[in-house]
Order: sequence, then structure tokens, then C-alpha cells
Amino acid sequence: MAWRLLCGSSEGCADVLHGVTSMEMLEVLEHPHAKGGSSDQAGWCGLAGSCPTVSVGDFFILQSSTMLKDITSLILRHTLVSRSHLTPELSLRLITRGCEAWGARAEDVPFVDPYWGFYWPGGQAVARYILDKPRFFQSRRVLDVGCGCGAQAIAAAAVGAERVLANDIDVNALEATKINAELNNVSVETSEKNFIGTKCEGFDTILIGDMFYDEEFAKTLFEWLSKLTDSGKLVLIGDPGRHGLTASRMSSMTRLASYTLHEDTCLENRGFTEAAVWRLEK
Ligand SMILES: C[S@@+](CC[C@H](N)C(=O)[O-])C[C@H]1O[C@@H](n2cnc3c(N)ncnc32)[C@H](O)[C@@H]1O
Repeated sequence: MAWRLLCGSSEGCADVLHGVTSMEMLEVLEHPHAKGGSSDQAGWCGLAGSCPTVSVGDFFILQSSTMLKDITSLILRHTLVSRSHLTPELSLRLITRGCEAWGARAEDVPFVDPYWGFYWPGGQAVARYILDKPRFFQSRRVLDVGCGCGAQAIAAAAVGAERVLANDIDVNALEATKINAELNNVSVETSEKNFIGTKCEGFDTILIGDMFYDEEFAKTLFEWLSKLTDSGKLVLIGDPGRHGLTASRMSSMTRLASYTLHEDTCLENRGFTEAAVWRLEK
């Protein structure tokens, strides 16, 4: 399918892309003005012929069915079902050693930074903790921020949480989450919205799996999570000891559990052999 796309950003960008195939759409979505959701200044025109000027959010709705079908088939093609992790009761489609994409050059993989293709140590620890404490999570309204493959959200849904929303700014992660939820016979809501800085109304439990990998982001994340904790939300953080989880930040946290990682996870995360679940304190 051919597309005609125009970036109508008021910042002076005048990119016009003709004849982009639906596969190439994945790259087009990496356009700087395609990020940030409908509040961004970007305006994309739609299909050749009709060309309505729409916001980024609307654009996704207009094109969504074809695109999502493509994303789903690419995910199915480039992943395998794995139970080699801390939550073997969950089957998860992941990029594992047997996959073409494993170790391939970035330009040979049809995804940009497929974080969702891996089950990160921090996410594994939180999901394990949830599955081990089903009663505690049954009455909770859970928001999984940066859901990746969706395992934390899926674990919460599996134990019968009252509400579960899996959130990621990467649309591919949300598709992977839907595929993985179906594989485990649960359903979860998904959202691509950037929740960082918001009050997370409608949720009482915020799950953060392995998101302290970058100092600048860790600072923003921690300040926001501290405000959520002050407002009475339960914030659970899973982490194997990444540098963003500094001693100062850890001093405001209580370690709830610690797990030895599966050997495959240790190989993928050189140097880490354990991951812990932390509760952020007021
Ligand atoms: C290292 S991965 C962890 C995935 C998953 N939580 C796990 O532990 O397996 C970090 C994820 O956070 C997502 N992410 C980054 N910034 C985000 C933001 N502002 N809001 C939501 N997700 C975000 C990335 O797209 C990626 O899927």
C-alpha cells in the first residue's frame, strides 16, 4: 500500500514522503515530530487523494488497522514463545537465541530498539512478586508504565486485579503485549499515552520494570514516582541494580523481594544475576 505523508509541524519542518509502503511506516513513525502524541505540533496528512490534515493521534486512528496487522505479523515472525525466565507460568513471545533477529545488525531488523522483545530482569522480578502474592493484587487498579512485552500487566491480570492498563510509548510494545496477553488468556487495556508527570487518576498501583537505565530519565522518573507515592499510590520498582537506582534513591525504598535470574537472562544482561522488587516510600 502506498502512502502520502506530510509533516506539518509549525517548527518549520516540511518533510513530505510519497509512496511509503506500510512496512516503511514503522520507520516513518520515528520521525521526530511523530513522537509525543496528539499534543505535539506535528500534523500528518493521510492517504494519497484524500489527504486530510490530522493530528498525530488521529493519524494513528486513520491508519491503524493496516499498520497494526503488519506489526502483529512482524512480531510473530521475529519472536518465539519463551518460558525461560522467572515466571515460567507465563508464555511470552520474545526475541530469543533461535530468532533471526537475535544478534542481527540493526538495519536488518524491522524494528527500532525492540525493548519489548526482551523480558528485562526488573520486569521479571515484579511479575514474579505479583504471581506469588495474588490476594494482595486482586483488588488493585494497576498501571504498568513502560510495559515492554507486557509481562507485569499480564501477571496482574492473571491474578485477577480489578483493572490493568499496560502503557508504553512504543506502539510495537503494545502490540506485543496484546499478543502475549492473548497467549496467556487474559485481557489488559493498553495505552500509548506518556503518563510521566500525570497524576495517574484511576490507578492505585504503579509498576515500573527496569526503567532506571539512564540517569537523566531516572531523575525525571524518580521525581514523578515520589509525587505519586506522596499522593498515596503504591509504586513498585523492579530493578537488577542499574546505575539510575542510586544509593540516595534506594534510601527512600524498601526491598520487598529478591530473585536469582534465569541463566538466559544473565547472559542477556551481562553482569546481573539478581533482580529485586522495591516499594517507594513517602
Ligand atoms: C527496558 S524496557 C522494560 C520493559 C518491561 N518493563 C520489562 O521490564 O520487561 C523499558 C520500556 O519503557 C518504555 N518507555 C520508555 N519511556 C517511556 C515513557 N515515558 N512512558 C512509557 N514507556 C516508556 C520503552 O519503550 C520500553 O518498552
